[in-house]
Amino acid sequence: MLVCPTTRAKLLHLLPQGGEVAEIGVAEGDFSQEILHENKPKCLHLIDPWEHQDRSDYVNDPSNVAAGAQDDRFNAVLARFRAEIDGGTVKVHRDYSQDAAIFFRDGQLDWIYVDGMHTAEAAYNDLATYGRKVRDDGFIIGHDYTNHVQARQWNFGVVEAVNRYVRESGYEFVALTMEAFPTYVIAKSKELARQLTDLLVRNVPYVVEIRDFPQRSDFEHKSVALKKGWMVYPSF
Ligand SMILES: C[S@@+](CC[C@H](N)C(=O)[O-])C[C@H]1O[C@@H](n2cnc3c(N)ncnc32)[C@H](O)[C@@H]1O
Repeated sequence: MLVCPTTRAKLLHLLPQGGEVAEIGVAEGDFSQEILHENKPKCLHLIDPWEHQDRSDYVNDPSNVAAGAQDDRFNAVLARFRAEIDGGTVKVHRDYSQDAAIFFRDGQLDWIYVDGMHTAEAAYNDLATYGRKVRDDGFIIGHDYTNHVQARQWNFGVVEAVNRYVRESGYEFVALTMEAFPTYVIAKSKELARQLTDLLVRNVPYVVEIRDFPQRSDFEHKSVALKKGWMVYPSF
């Protein structure tokens, strides 16, 4: 696995283009816009219920905005991608990820972006359900692979979910961006993992390899308090 001093937007530019892609968890469509611009998919499925969820494990997550704000976000996404929706490049699914899964065949998607509910259980279920929808030489990227102090307050369990899924599924952990809210890349085949690793080493300066991750080490996003805010750093 490579620790990459880059951002999720720059990764998009490097990853294979022109595919059929799904984004789980869309909010206002900021990253959807980046996917369209930087990765140029032939089709982008946007999956989000745009619904406030009254449940104790999700109450602290700042994405869980009130019902009226959810409707505003949904309407803003429709307006933002009107041309792409009319042209058939963007398909909007106002639905929970587990319910929307029936609209996809196994192996249909080239890659997915996982950024829906961030509890360990929900993130794991998204990986387990949509990992099958990705073609055999496809990949998954996802947001918020962090367990720093802020993430724990928001009940994020992405690190736990991804590590468990990688250990169980045979997906290879390829890369992690070096950000306060990192993005991970996992590949379904060893050959694709090798190709993506090669691509990243050639294009991202100063990558660091962590061998046999997560099989042989854990990840902790450590933090030090500043006068204002925090600095975080990955520890393996
Ligand atoms: C962090 S935001 C997404 C941000 C977006 N990917 C971006 O980077 O611009 C998380 C979103 O996940 C959505 N969400 C929550 N539970 C979900 C579920 N079960 N299925 C799909 N989306 C879900 C929320 O409504 C929220 O809009």
